[in-house]
Amino acid sequence: ADGPITVRQLGGSLGAEIEGVRLGGDLGPGRLAAVRAALLRHKVVFFRGQHHLDDESHADFAELLGPLTTAHPTVNTGSARVLRVTANRGMAANSWHTDVSFVDRVPAISVLRSVVLPDFGGNTVWANTVTAYDGLPEPLRALVDRLWAVHTNSYDYAQRDEEHDQPDANYTREDFASQIFETRHPVVHVHPETGERSLLLGNFVKSFEGFGSTESIALFNLLQNRITKLENTVRWRWAPGDVAMWDNRSTQHYAVADFDHQPREMRRITVQGDVPVSIDG
Ligand code: SIN
Repeated sequence: ADGPITVRQLGGSLGAEIEGVRLGGDLGPGRLAAVRAALLRHKVVFFRGQHHLDDESHADFAELLGPLTTAHPTVNTGSARVLRVTANRGMAANSWHTDVSFVDRVPAISVLRSVVLPDFGGNTVWANTVTAYDGLPEPLRALVDRLWAVHTNSYDYAQRDEEHDQPDANYTREDFASQIFETRHPVVHVHPETGERSLLLGNFVKSFEGFGSTESIALFNLLQNRITKLENTVRWRWAPGDVAMWDNRSTQHYAVADFDHQPREMRRITVQGDVPVSIDG
């Protein structure tokens, strides 16, 4: 079990597959450090063949990376540590987002495990929010460097169903506890571990401070289009036993809802993060 670890880069912008690691709470410090370093560098890493994992060992592994968040602040999951993401209640399928960006302390890392997969479709795509920032034209960077966004869960998923062809791919209202979160975050934040600057946006953004709703939407679309440009993404086609782990501070992701009515079930565990810090500290 202690053979060499290989890290194979998958795309020009982000993503790598790691081989030679058996995930679990017993992962040794050397291998854990290698996994963490690969995560910070490639932003989303994939492991195949982790069939031995169950919810407990999945959570035990994630806990090596840092304290876990409760499964989801607004979804009634029935479990403290593990969020069940099912086909007809897919976790924000059809939308680009950073996980749970509407709370003060945005989760640092998410670890997602496939449990039931459709025969076709249901891939997940990640985008690099650091390269998206780095590529902005200078005047736009100057604008967003000191811009703040309001993130909320108050009008996500269920309401946005109307915008999508497959409403059943999203949560319904009943899945949510009544609590509404509304939090302001800097649009550009400094990654606490790498020091990289990154755009913090995604589906939970409601508006930009100082901008009306029409202007907010125009600016949001302009920035999101940069983030989700295909060259800035990596796409994963799930197989049984796969695990994806991403840095939620430097990525967005999108679960593609193209699997018709087939079952798709995943488990997600999130590691606590810090309050995002602006470039002014
Ligand atoms: C998620 O948004 O965290 C889940 C993504 C997926 O189901 O592929």
